[in-house]
Amino acid sequence: MTREVPERTPFATIDDMPPPMQAMIFDALERMAADPQMRRVRAAAQRALDPRPGQRLLDAGCGVGEVARDLAAAVAPGGQVVGVDASAAAIAVATGRAGDARVTYAVGDLLSLDFEDQTFDGVRAERVLQHMGEPDAGVAELVRVTRAGGRVCLVDTDWLSLASDGLPDDLVSRMWQGAMVARQHQPTMGRTLRRRLVRAGLVDVVCEPVPLWFTDPDDASTVIPLFNRSIPREAGFIPEELWDPWWAAVDRAADAGELLAVVTIWVAAGVRP
Ligand SMILES: C[S@@+](CC[C@H](N)C(=O)[O-])C[C@H]1O[C@@H](n2cnc3c(N)ncnc32)[C@H](O)[C@@H]1O
Repeated sequence: MTREVPERTPFATIDDMPPPMQAMIFDALERMAADPQMRRVRAAAQRALDPRPGQRLLDAGCGVGEVARDLAAAVAPGGQVVGVDASAAAIAVATGRAGDARVTYAVGDLLSLDFEDQTFDGVRAERVLQHMGEPDAGVAELVRVTRAGGRVCLVDTDWLSLASDGLPDDLVSRMWQGAMVARQHQPTMGRTLRRRLVRAGLVDVVCEPVPLWFTDPDDASTVIPLFNRSIPREAGFIPEELWDPWWAAVDRAADAGELLAVVTIWVAAGVRP
């Protein structure tokens, strides 16, 4: 498949967006954190990271910081969790909600983390690499700040795994290609995580695909932006010529109780030798 790789995805440049758009993104991240299907993904990631009391952990690309807050309980007593994100606006929201002295947040770039080598016992990055132009440089940086024997855990979506039933096939393939695949920097990132960890020299690499499925468009909208009606038409996320047929088909399938949408998110982890 040939496609033009977008220079940057919106998630790489949240601070350049108007505040209402930022608020929409932060709200979407929080809805995601509360979603039962995403909780399965995060439970798999927590098993893979295997946090222990007293450990120092990093969540790189932490967004508004819910995972860092969840991890604080796992490292108590004595541990510490640091959340870093490129977006100052996201870090401001995360800091406002921290409420736990074991969690701190800072603005920072995953490609150039402001930490000494081998600072952390465990490092994670969730749905960040798909937005980056140099994901392997990002993985190398995560490995650099992980101590020998520490774990690196990656979580990412495989947008090419999107599948559906109850919607017209030709419309679906144009939507998947036009809206999801063409607009993602790294649409297959999820399935590549294991290989990237192996190539980065980690050992005992494990991976787990977590399928998420939805039968209600509003539920699906939490994870699959194609079903998110609050993204305005003018944003151009859905190709203009597909806007009307898409929503008509979604409504028809939902009204008939026939909608099914599936996407796989991968969790992969390994140990720094
Ligand atoms: C889809 S959000 C995921 C946020 C969070 N990990 C979660 O799962 O809810 C992607 C996040 O990655 C951040 N990000 C993108 N590129 C980054 C980079 N080079 N360094 C640090 N953070 C980055 C964005 O600011 C955004 O908060």
